[in-house]
Amino acid sequence: MADKTLIVVSICGSLRKGSYNRVVMNALPALAPEGMHIRESPPISEFPLYNADIENSTGFPAAVQTLADAIRAADGVIFNSPEYNFGIPSPLKNALDWVSRVPNQPFAGKPIALQSASPGPLGGGRVQYDLRRAMVFLDALTLNKPEIFIGNCTQRINDKTGQITDQQTKDFIKLQLAAFAKFITVYGAKS
Ligand SMILES: Cc1cc2nc3c(=O)[nH]c(=O)nc-3n(C[C@H](O)[C@H](O)[C@H](O)COP(=O)(O)O)c2cc1C
Repeated sequence: MADKTLIVVSICGSLRKGSYNRVVMNALPALAPEGMHIRESPPISEFPLYNADIENSTGFPAAVQTLADAIRAADGVIFNSPEYNFGIPSPLKNALDWVSRVPNQPFAGKPIALQSASPGPLGGGRVQYDLRRAMVFLDALTLNKPEIFIGNCTQRINDKTGQITDQQTKDFIKLQLAAFAKFITVYGAKS
């Protein structure tokens, strides 16, 4: 249990309404340890495709600034993302590229935790290594373990009811969130 309230923002890498990763993200507040408040980030779906000409003419879009501010104000960030072609889905990569250009870029020194779900057996493990690499460049602090790869997710998550149906999956997530609370308390700049 953290001594102070920890505000954590979760960012979903899937824009799909029935997203398995979104179901996981929506389950997080109930699985979080006492004192950790997890809320969804402002949306990334309205970001234009990154183009330096936009940045240099009209400046950063309001939606980008809003996300950057939400990340800055948070004690930590969780990515709930699928894997697309062994990497970061384009909407999420686009959002990261935009936010990375904002002055005083908000991921610097920010504790990060990663979770992925996939119908495939590896649970999206490769997107996590892609995200870890991007977070290195952005000077974020990514939690090493426990890792959450939800493989064969159609058997563990009911996308119709929006529930994680597998108790072991929920237990693993609880363990990671508890570890993330400690990680933030020890390493987080805002703690
Ligand atoms: C463009 C695209 C690429 C994909 N590539 C992968 C992949 O590399 N690895 C994987 O495990 N699943 C892959 N998938 C399957 C996704 O894991 C699956 O569609 C998943 O349900 C997407 O996550 P969501 O339910 O949160 O939207 C891919 C799906 C799409 C649409």
